[in-house]
Order: sequence, then C-alpha cells, then structure tokens
Amino acid sequence: MRSWPSDRVVLGGDYNPEQWPPEVWEEDVALMREAGVSFVTLGVFSWATLQPEPDRWELDWLDRVMDLLDGAGVAVDLATATASPPPWFSRAHPDTLPVDREGRTLWPGGRQAWCPSSTVFTEHATAVTATLARRYHDHPALAMWHVSNEYGCHNAPCYCDRCAATFRVWLAERYGDVDALNDAWGTAFWSQRYSTLEEVLPPRLAPTHPNPTQVLDYRRFTSDALLRQYLAELDVLRRLSPGVPVTTNFMTLDSFRHLDYPAWTPHVDVVSTDHYLTGALDDPEAELAFAADLTRGLAGGDPWLLMEHSTSAVNWQPVNLAKRPGQMLRNSLVHVARGADTLGFFQWRASRAGAEKFHSGLVPHAGTGTRLWDEVSGLGRACRALGEVVGTRVEAEVALLWDYQAGWACDQEAHPSSRVRYGDVAHDLHAALRRAHVTVDVVPPGTDLTGYRLVLVPTLYLCSDTTAAAVADAAAAGAHVVVTYFSGIVDENDHVRLGGYPGAFRDLLGVHVEELLPLADDAVVHVSAADGGDARGGTGTLWTEHLHLRDARAVLAYDDGPVPGVPAVTHRTVPGSGAGAWYVATRLDAGCLDALTARVCEGAGVAAAADAPTGVEVVRRRGSGRSYLFAVNHGDEPARVEGVRGVDLLVGGDVDGLDLAAGGVAVVRES
Ligand code: GLA
Ligand code: ZN
Repeated sequence: MRSWPSDRVVLGGDYNPEQWPPEVWEEDVALMREAGVSFVTLGVFSWATLQPEPDRWELDWLDRVMDLLDGAGVAVDLATATASPPPWFSRAHPDTLPVDREGRTLWPGGRQAWCPSSTVFTEHATAVTATLARRYHDHPALAMWHVSNEYGCHNAPCYCDRCAATFRVWLAERYGDVDALNDAWGTAFWSQRYSTLEEVLPPRLAPTHPNPTQVLDYRRFTSDALLRQYLAELDVLRRLSPGVPVTTNFMTLDSFRHLDYPAWTPHVDVVSTDHYLTGALDDPEAELAFAADLTRGLAGGDPWLLMEHSTSAVNWQPVNLAKRPGQMLRNSLVHVARGADTLGFFQWRASRAGAEKFHSGLVPHAGTGTRLWDEVSGLGRACRALGEVVGTRVEAEVALLWDYQAGWACDQEAHPSSRVRYGDVAHDLHAALRRAHVTVDVVPPGTDLTGYRLVLVPTLYLCSDTTAAAVADAAAAGAHVVVTYFSGIVDENDHVRLGGYPGAFRDLLGVHVEELLPLADDAVVHVSAADGGDARGGTGTLWTEHLHLRDARAVLAYDDGPVPGVPAVTHRTVPGSGAGAWYVATRLDAGCLDALTARVCEGAGVAAAADAPTGVEVVRRRGSGRSYLFAVNHGDEPARVEGVRGVDLLVGGDVDGLDLAAGGVAVVRES
C-alpha cells in the first residue's frame, strides 16, 4: 500500500484508461510525471469493462495500469467501479431500474440507472468491490478506495414499488406505529389519515400539493437508502482491504442537495467533494468559496480532498464557458486556501467519444502544445511549492449554520413565497463576508458553536429544539448571532411553532412576528436607520414581516411597503454574555448587507484576514506554529495587500506588503 503523498498538495484526477488503447497508457504515465500528477482516481465507470458478462472478469488490463502507475510513483484512489452497472445487469434485472415521480422508468443508456433500494444491485455491486479488494488490497500503488461516484446524482429520489416497500420499513423504524406517523405527518388534514403503514406510498405525482412531511421524510429516506448502499461496499472494503482509507465523492455545489451529508461523514476516512463553476451565476467564484467552506465544515475543519473540478469548460450547462488564462490556478488555490490538500480534476484525458467529449481534461484534445497543458504543468509546480501548507487548518471566527434537511423543508411548494429558496441568504451573507475578507466555516447542525465569535443562521426554516438550544448556548457563551427571515418557523416534523414567528428564536432575538408579508416580484421596500441610529439604509426585496419588539431595539425600519415604520433589522443584547442577537427580516441589498455585516463583525470582534482591496480573496491557514496567507486577485487590475510580511512560496522571495498582478495569486508564509 502507498500512503497518500504529504510532501505537496496532491494533484491528479479521474483516470479512465478503459477509454483508450494500451499504447496511450504509457504516454499517459509519462505525461503525468511531466505535469507533477501524484494521484489518480482510477476506473470509476469501468464495471462493464471489468465484468463484461456475469461470469467473466477481465482484470489483466487493470493489473497493467496499476503497475504502470506504481512505476511512476502515482498513488491510486481505486474506484469500486460500481457507479454505473453494465447493460447485461439491467437486462437481467429490469426491476433494478429507477422510476421517477410520474412513474416513468429511467432506462439504461446514460449512467447510474439503478434504484437506491435495490438489494439485487447491492449484491452485484458488493461482488465487484470484493473482486477488486481481493485482487488489489496489497498492490503497492493502492492508496485509497473510491466507492461508487456522486451518490444520488441522477437516481434520487426513486419512486418505484421497491422503494415504497423499503420506505415503509424505514417509517416503522422512525415512528414505531401508524399513529405516531399520523401525528408527525399531520394527516388529520385533507383526509390523509392512514390506518396501516401498508397504505403509505412515496410522494408520487398527486392531483395537488403532496403532504410536506411525507416529502421531507422521503428525502431523508432516500439519503439513508443510498448511505446503506455505500455502507455495504464499505463493509467489504474494511474486511478485505483493512487499513486502506475509503472515501466517496460528495457534491457540495449549491445545485445539488439530494443527500444529508452530515450523516455520511462519520463513514468516510476523508471527506472528498466535486465542484464545478456555475456559469449562470453573477459571481460563480463566490459560490466556489461557499462550497469549499461547506466541505471543510462537513470535514469538521480537517483538510479535505477535492476529487473533481475542471481545468476549463464543462459540458453540461446551457453554455459552457472556458476558463480564462490563470483562472484554473486561481480556482484551484482558493480550494487549497479553504482547506483542500488534494486537487483532483475530471478527467485526466478529454474523451474522444461519449456524452462528455466536450468536457475539459488535464490533457486536452489538442494535446500538450497548448496553453491549457502549460497551465496544468504550472499548477503541478505550484502544488509542489505548497507542500508545507499540507495538514494546516483554516482559520475562521464565524460559523454559518447549513442544514440540508432545513433546505428540503424550506424549498417545498405551498409556502408564503416560492421565491424564498434555502441558501439564498446564506450565499448573500457568505459573499458579504468574503468581500470583507472574513472567513466563514459553513457547518452542519450538531457542530459546537460556542468557540465562534459570530454565528449566522440564514433562513433556517426547519429547526429542532436541539439546534435552537445550540445557537442560544453559543450566544450565552458570547457568540454574536445573526438570524434571518423565515428561520425557526417549524420543528423537525414541519409543524409550525406557534405563538409568533420565528418560534425557535423568539426569545433569543427578543422579537415576535405576527404576520409574514412576502413581496411581489417587482416590489422594493426602503429601509433606513431607526430610532435616531446611524445604521446605513438601503433596500429590501422578496420579504417583509409584521414584527414586534419585545426586548430588542430597532436598527433599520421600513420607510414604505406593507408595514412602514415597522422594524426590519433588530438587535438585542444577550443578558450575561453581552453578545448581540440580530434579526434581519427582509432580503437586504448587497451594500446594505455589507454595512450591516461590518457593524456586526466589529461588535463581535471578528477581524479580516488581511487589509486587502475588494476583488482580492484572502484566507489564512495555520498549523505547527506557522501561518500562511493565500491571496487571489480576481480583478483585472493589479492590487496591493498591506501589512503582509513573509516569504512568497510560489515565486520565492521576501514580501513586505503584497503586490498582486491582475489575476495574480500568492501564498505567503508569514513571519
Ligand atoms: C461529475 C462526475 C464525473 C463527470 C463530471 C463532469 O462530477 O462525477 O464523472 O461526469 O461530473 O463535470
Ligand atoms: Zn426505487
């Protein structure tokens, strides 16, 4: 077994040699050395090549590739190859195909055409895992196992009859009996009362809005069903390949929310994720930073592994923007700045055929005499130069609570405004703090919040008593808190907390809300300083509330809109700790939010990582008595970061005040 390289930031990516003739493999390995590639994740979609027929295995080619990689000193994250079953499997077991909400079968011909609840799939997948584990557990190139790929990317949720039956078992475990389920789901409403669990179905296409708790539980169930598939393979690997770390690649980008990753993290040895820029966003790199901070939060603050990103364009968006010169290095370094110690790409060599042939790779179609290849080699040099950063931790004084389950509940139909989406304010707040050079840990419920100076609770629509208590405890311990609209509205069963919104946070915030007042799409309200204060005013969109103060004071109030004069932003001093408990009841514009977060940070004693111009992203990692400042200039103009002293690890040389070229990057070991 090979240990994961630790003398450098580890560079590599998905390697799919089965797409290429053997002559290419030798060249691959030579080029990997040239570029400084030190790991590959091998054979993710090779099941049909490995097991072309139920009783025939073809492993010699993989032996050869493993040996070649070993010879080149490349660590292998070997895939269990179970992400997509071969055609013979689906033909022999058509009942393993997933079914959508409208009852349509999802046929083979793409990938991941298997039902999350299928035990026939589990049997065959674990057989592949066992075959590979037996053969390679002591291969000198093996450094890690990569189970399946992006669980739930295309096959979740599935609404088939098998899932229906498995859901009933899951419900029996959760609720015990049908009466408890009736209570939790509020089935007195619309004549939905069940007399036996046998009557319960997945939330298939219905004449009108489905039962929201049923929908929520179905998402919980789906995440658990896929986790069970993962655990079945993990169990095989633990038995047949003990001591080799195991991971599966999460998807922490904002557009993917099918799995409750905090339930998965105890079962992976290292948290790994995939991230791609979303070209349609105003600021795709702000979303990148959020996703990286979320991945670190899932990893409990430990360094994590970026399994996939892209050297340039992807192929699955309406228009696939190529990365501009220097952008790959900037993107990659932001991941490292925010805690990644490994940088993987999809994929090593851009495919000739198949649905992803226009997806960029490390080796482009045009070959190595290209800008892209030069940049890949440059990234390889940067990765070597950053070896001493590996193992250090990101410094953050701010936590932002992120809860997949709250998102599943928040984004359902039949709410006050379909425009309120979980994550929108989370991204607003994160972006405001990123502009202010403040680093944020995006953390799941259950995280100890008491050590943070500031805790952000954006649109946490669903909130358990435990989570509400954790936020209150943090405030009692001195953490300042910002809660935004449509938070703390319901409990885990999606039942409204009565007595005035936001039920879970009313006492902490010292406010209560008698009516939710969403705004029409084109409506804008104006807010200005309340009670002779000096807070910067601005505008709100999307949402307002008829709010009353209990023992809080108004900071901003509405000038117009449905409730002129009513507070829009409030502040309460938490007795004992003196921390500030802020409530934001509308969606503030960016300027107003920047001013507010600056004020909150000042009160909380939260410092910027450095004194840098807007457009320069700065983050600090620390460890073993050392400190490293990452600075990435996303702008078109040169920029200077004052007050930074030390050694530039990328180009060498002393730094006293950091000058960055337009689009330039630096990593400074601070003195
Ligand atoms: C995902 C998958 C890869 C590939 C990339 C393309 O991350 O894991 O197999 O399809 O997307 O961006
Ligand atoms: Zn199913």
